[in-house]
Amino acid sequence: MSEYILEIENLTKEFPGVIALENVNVKIKKGEIHSICGENGAGKSTLMSVISGVYPKGSYEGIVKFKGHETNYSSVKDSEKEGLAIIHQELALSPYLSIYENMFLGHMETKFGIINWDKYLIESKKYLNIVGLNETPETIVSKLGVGKQQLVEIARALSKKTDFIILDEPTSSLNDDESDKLLNLMLEFKKQGITLVMISHKLNEVLKVADSVTILRDGKSITTYDVKESNLTEEMIIKDMVGRDLTQRFPERKSSAGDTLMEVKNWTVYHPDYHDIKVIDNASFYLRKGEILAFCGPMGAGRTELMMSLFGRSYGFHSEGELYIKGKRQNFNNPREAISSGLGYISEDRKSLGLILIQDIKTNITHSSLGKISSFGVIDNQKEIKIAEHYRNELKIRTPSINQYVRNLSGGNQQKVAVSKALMTDPEILIVDEPTRGIDIGAKTEIYGIMNEMITAGKSIIMVSSELPEALGMADRIYVMNEGKIKGELNKDEATQEKIMHLALVG
Ligand SMILES: Nc1ncnc2c1ncn2[C@@H]1O[C@H](COP(=O)(O)OP(=O)(O)OP(=O)(O)O)[C@@H](O)[C@H]1O
Ligand SMILES: [Mg+2]
Repeated sequence: MSEYILEIENLTKEFPGVIALENVNVKIKKGEIHSICGENGAGKSTLMSVISGVYPKGSYEGIVKFKGHETNYSSVKDSEKEGLAIIHQELALSPYLSIYENMFLGHMETKFGIINWDKYLIESKKYLNIVGLNETPETIVSKLGVGKQQLVEIARALSKKTDFIILDEPTSSLNDDESDKLLNLMLEFKKQGITLVMISHKLNEVLKVADSVTILRDGKSITTYDVKESNLTEEMIIKDMVGRDLTQRFPERKSSAGDTLMEVKNWTVYHPDYHDIKVIDNASFYLRKGEILAFCGPMGAGRTELMMSLFGRSYGFHSEGELYIKGKRQNFNNPREAISSGLGYISEDRKSLGLILIQDIKTNITHSSLGKISSFGVIDNQKEIKIAEHYRNELKIRTPSINQYVRNLSGGNQQKVAVSKALMTDPEILIVDEPTRGIDIGAKTEIYGIMNEMITAGKSIIMVSSELPEALGMADRIYVMNEGKIKGELNKDEATQEKIMHLALVG
């Protein structure tokens, strides 16, 4: 057998109006970690869906050879039988089932039509142990954070006796610690002879674990690097991804913060299910006009919960404390009231809170700002189209038309629609929760540029970010949170990664 476990030759895959992949050639060696890099919409996820049979034979042109023979899959089930497992960009667990039910759902053996659940309960413990997930198998999945859900997906993949695992942006929702654990787990699997394919926008992680890197641009395979042989650097990858050098990741902006615009005093939020647990404990902070404020801290620190509860009580059983905007006490009961008082919010979870996937791009963008595109209660279609086109150009949303369903966009382009939607409400104060999650390096810089323009226009921004370089590069001031409390505050000129982590742990 050749040294390659997977060979793709002249692969072309089209959707109506979109050539997602064009003449792609990639070879993946047995037992290596192979990374796929490329901008949003470059075709990475589509490529993985072809390899794994999500798109069946006949729906694409070209040849896919797995383990020496040409594949002929009609669904994912067929590739699973040959030892291939895929973990998709958006996790696909059933939230209301337990860990072990999720792990074995769809591939259980039955005896006389009866499933031996006890057997699977015991077996699940073995795999949870391998992936280092310290939870009982009966735990309901919705009670786990994203990082742990990711581990359940991997345990599920392993339980299918797999020797080829595809991970589509596995660390995009994980913090540094969780990411490190996952990367180490991948290296461990490699030692055992498993081949891994990882898609990621985090180039430092790519360079940490990958043996080879293939770069896709506009649906074409540009090149494959051997990481060691070519002394591969982030700059080299970026250049191939975007087709040019990218010199400045964080565009310059002069600090222009003015008077206090918003103030939060002794804000406490109680858990939606366990009403006596304080998720946010006595948080106080302020935001100045024309300021970008970042909230940092580990996953689970309470940053999202704090922001959601301020945004019209979108989180929590009950919240108490004081919120002032321009010195006036506010008491929002729902997001609509918050929006009409000048607040905007981009959710970290675009799938469940931000977007309507089965509607088109323009409807999603204008959804929260209908007043701006209608007169006397009637929507002005021309205006709607014009505005949607404006954001499509500004943020380079990759799509044949603004009438495309959001569901059909790549992950990063969905995020750009969510950003457009919030920008269109034109808020005085914009709260953005992980604004660049899953967004490629070039588009990140575009979003940073737009944030800076908002500031120049006199608006203010609160940004929750797990990427410390992003917080350090963009914010005027940083609050550090942990365990539901604000642990400290740093100015732009004194802030460093070390200080932020120190504050989070020690306070
Ligand atoms: N079901 C579909 N219908 C129409 N177009 C699609 C569909 N799926 C993907 N596309 C288009 O194919 C192109 C490639 O998308 P893909 O999801 O593979 O990108 P990606 O490289 O994974 O991007 P990201 O980094 O944002 O996840 C995009 O232009 C996308 O809009
Ligand atoms: Mg993708």
